[in-house]
Amino acid sequence: MLKDHWPLLGLRLTTPRLELRLPGEGELAALAELAAEGIHPPEEMPFLFPWTDLPPAARARSVVQHHWLRRGDWTPENWSLALAVFFEGRPVGFQDFAARDFGTLRRTSSGSWLGRRHQGQGIGTEMRTAMLHLAFEGLGAAEAVSGALEHNAASLAVSRKLGYERDGVERVVIRGRATTEIRLRLPRARWEAAADRAAADRAPVTVTGLEPCLPLFGAVRVA
Ligand SMILES: CC(C)(COP(=O)(O)OP(=O)(O)OC[C@H]1O[C@@H](n2cnc3c(N)ncnc32)[C@H](O)[C@@H]1OP(=O)(O)O)[C@@H](O)C(=O)NCCC(=O)NCCS
Repeated sequence: MLKDHWPLLGLRLTTPRLELRLPGEGELAALAELAAEGIHPPEEMPFLFPWTDLPPAARARSVVQHHWLRRGDWTPENWSLALAVFFEGRPVGFQDFAARDFGTLRRTSSGSWLGRRHQGQGIGTEMRTAMLHLAFEGLGAAEAVSGALEHNAASLAVSRKLGYERDGVERVVIRGRATTEIRLRLPRARWEAAADRAAADRAPVTVTGLEPCLPLFGAVRVA
């Protein structure tokens, strides 16, 4: 089976409402169609690389190619797990989970998007919680980092709710204009402290199929 050679195909993160895993072919097509339908109002640009400015068909194709690329160029020293997010059995969005030199730095980073009709229902918070659970509880990460453009209230709210702290700013050019990206950082101690404080409202997460993936992440087993 392909999974014997690419165990990431067997990795699953489950929350009360969501499943995060690599998509199959038809599911990847559905994800691409979701991106073609739109991720944000055209006058806004939440991404550092403005791939959503592509016309819908090219935007859909870029989703497909992105998934293939991330599988193709994976190494334990530099990886990016392009997870599809499933709600009621259908793909609703994308959660990226990435690291360079994880075995040494123990730091992960992330990016995400949801189809527009699936936004504002707490799904973004739940899927990031799942990703952070994999980082801290599954892989033993020391910190998780992220970033959001200063006008991206929803993304900043998700990070704030999950305990990230601001970690400086970066000036970037988006659509030819200077914009500020806010860097965010969640050290392990804050994740653990938040677990105590917010035990009641942080979504519980189950991870299955992780063990055979650990060498691919450059990680060792966490007791
Ligand atoms: C960013 C994104 C993934 C967040 O997911 P989501 O499911 O919409 O977010 P949630 O429903 O979990 O909301 C999280 C918080 O953001 C708040 N929020 C959402 N939209 C907001 C807005 N426009 N202004 C202020 N706060 C907002 C919510 O109120 C919620 O906080 P609360 O629970 O305290 O009320 C999603 O909105 C998205 O895909 N946006 C477009 C692409 C994008 O921006 N990707 C991230 C690039 S860094």
